[in-house]
Amino acid sequence: MNTSVGINAIHFYTGNFVFSLQTLAEAKNIDANKYTRGIGQDHMSLSAHDEDVVTLGANAAYPLVKDDNSNISTLLFATETGVDQSKSAGVYVHRLLDLPKTCRIVELKQACYSGTAAVQMACALVARKQNERVLVIMSDIAHYDLNTPAEATQGCGAVAMMITANPRVAEVLPESGLYTEDVMDFWRPNYRKNALVDGKFSAEMYMKSLTHAWDDYVSQTDSGLGDFRHFCYHSPFSRMAFKAHLHLARHCGVKLSGDNISKHIDAGLHYNRTIGNSYTASLYIGLTSLLEHVDGLAGQRIGMFSYGSGCVGEFFALRVVDNYEEHLFKAEHRDMLDARTAIDHSQYLHYCAEPEPTDGEAHEMEMGTTGRFRLAAINAHQREYVIV
Ligand code: CAA
Repeated sequence: MNTSVGINAIHFYTGNFVFSLQTLAEAKNIDANKYTRGIGQDHMSLSAHDEDVVTLGANAAYPLVKDDNSNISTLLFATETGVDQSKSAGVYVHRLLDLPKTCRIVELKQACYSGTAAVQMACALVARKQNERVLVIMSDIAHYDLNTPAEATQGCGAVAMMITANPRVAEVLPESGLYTEDVMDFWRPNYRKNALVDGKFSAEMYMKSLTHAWDDYVSQTDSGLGDFRHFCYHSPFSRMAFKAHLHLARHCGVKLSGDNISKHIDAGLHYNRTIGNSYTASLYIGLTSLLEHVDGLAGQRIGMFSYGSGCVGEFFALRVVDNYEEHLFKAEHRDMLDARTAIDHSQYLHYCAEPEPTDGEAHEMEMGTTGRFRLAAINAHQREYVIV
């Protein structure tokens, strides 16, 4: 008999600053509906200068390991905004979380998709050795150049999941539909802090990958849209999920009203609307939103679409487990989002203009985070992380 494998716990964390898109629209003298309705975003989270993908990831994972860090055989760290070309961000997290020395660690990259690759690899490892636990962390900071169409879709966040046998939250079902094509829709050369993007083309490639991955999934499972009560989509901005679901329904020959689409996807968008794009973490912050805003999901299948520019797409499914509600962190997530520090437009411009230290000299980082872990300094080209 196959043992079920999947998500035993899921917790996310975001940057300590929050900037309103209403304020951005006023500063640019444009209609705020362009952001709140046209792209479907209310705020963006911004990381403080002593926060990066390591501290966000460690803060996301801490509640999952603080009472029990035993049997964690592997930490998979997915990011497209890593802090080092050689060392995995996960190795810093390993020390901060005091994980067992007998733990393998690797960083994975394929734009926003690599978190899903990490989940699939974690499930495969656990299926082989069922007493092991695999910690998956996805963590990203999405920055674009100012005064580009992408500016309003910035954000940051990290999500951590413990993958185990007989999971308490959701089983990851083994079938998945895949699509890969070598395209330049979004990329970040090593010498650039901010990503480059061909926005409209990226949306086209997202849609193309979705329908191809879906077709591959259907060829293995004979599924239809009606087999899923809810869908979670990678959400660079929340309106993208709406468009994606409409596109998939048309592809399947299913007529869905705006209300039907909302019933399928809206519960998964609450957190993303106020955090912005968190690249690898976005799909799973969406999943957390769904689980924490809908009761009675036990036994239901959730359709998941993961997209990473460049590009790779994957469609797969989760089955929610009985009593999942008892293992969520809903109050903690709400409190953390509410506790962010709001910044005004001039603080935002100042924030965006601050350069990252690259000279190897000693730099103390200004205190900005309220999290447990912070980047205290960069000295002799080495990042110094501390527990607050
Ligand atoms: N009231 C309501 N809606 C309004 C409005 C108003 N006053 N003004 C404009 N809108 C609507 C427009 O009609 C449009 O809606 P539709 O798309 O339904 O036609 C929507 O607002 C967006 O407006 P624009 O078409 O003018 O687009 P834009 O110039 O703002 O750019 C974007 C949108 C190309 C997505 C840009 O935000 C971007 O480049 N983002 C980064 C790339 C990205 O996120 N791509 C997504 C797929 S790739 C991916 O998913 C990977 C990843 O994470 C990056």
